[in-house]
Amino acid sequence: MNDDTALQRAANALTLARSIFVLTGSGISSESGLPTFRGVGGLWRTHRVEELASPEGFRRDPRLVWTWYNERRAAHERAQPNAGHHALVALERSCDDFTLATQNVDSLHLRAGSQRLLELHGSLREARCTGCASRRPFDAGGLPLDEIDHECGGRWRPDIVWFGEALPAGAWAQARAAAERADVILVVGTSAVVYPAAALATHFNDRAFVVEINPERTAISNRVSCSIAGYAAEVLPKLDNNATS
Ligand code: OAD
Repeated sequence: MNDDTALQRAANALTLARSIFVLTGSGISSESGLPTFRGVGGLWRTHRVEELASPEGFRRDPRLVWTWYNERRAAHERAQPNAGHHALVALERSCDDFTLATQNVDSLHLRAGSQRLLELHGSLREARCTGCASRRPFDAGGLPLDEIDHECGGRWRPDIVWFGEALPAGAWAQARAAAERADVILVVGTSAVVYPAAALATHFNDRAFVVEINPERTAISNRVSCSIAGYAAEVLPKLDNNATS
């Protein structure tokens, strides 16, 4: 199937869909200038996951972890939502039963205006105390390193999901239910190797028309209904135009 045919089939499926579920990963933000995790220039190519994205790493060196997340928070703030994020807002407005679940912590879907949004891996807008679980927002300047210790005896940590940790239960339950009832599932900009989020693409619904948008083949390319090889910021607006025309 060439990409024009794949695009048209996906657009037709979206036009007929009563329920749409979208799963995004870091690839959707790459045209906003943010790096992915595993591709060329990806964060996990040059940084050690276990030091920066695990509870053990945080216990060992909280200042190192916060320095890294403060830099990422500042980069998110400098970035702007791209045409892919905006196209998903338009798609949301065209369908009464629409759910967007993202693995991203960059807030770009929120800033684009997505409302039925589930942030499966949390966000870098808030810190959470390891002791008393209270929360505090932090802005583009990041969390000051001399404020990591909380008065309760715990420490402030980014309110995101690290390796070995459970996803927020409410967001996960809603995302799974939305994936189960969807007529169309769009999987955008994710390598689909990090579970449980990746399971939402193909594990819970064998009836849905599953469309993958990614310039590369991924772990699920053989299992989807159609793959569109391209960049999210180019393909998603075309999909919106074709679905609404
Ligand atoms: P990955 O780096 O694993 O995958 C990014 C995917 O985006 C790859 O398949 C790329 O081919 C694709 N891609 C790159 N540019 C694109 C573009 N312009 N349009 C569409 N696709 C593009 O990142 P994720 O799948 O997001 O978790 O990684 C999942 C999780 O692993 C992250 O949420 C993070 C990470 O460790 C935690 O930190 C818990």
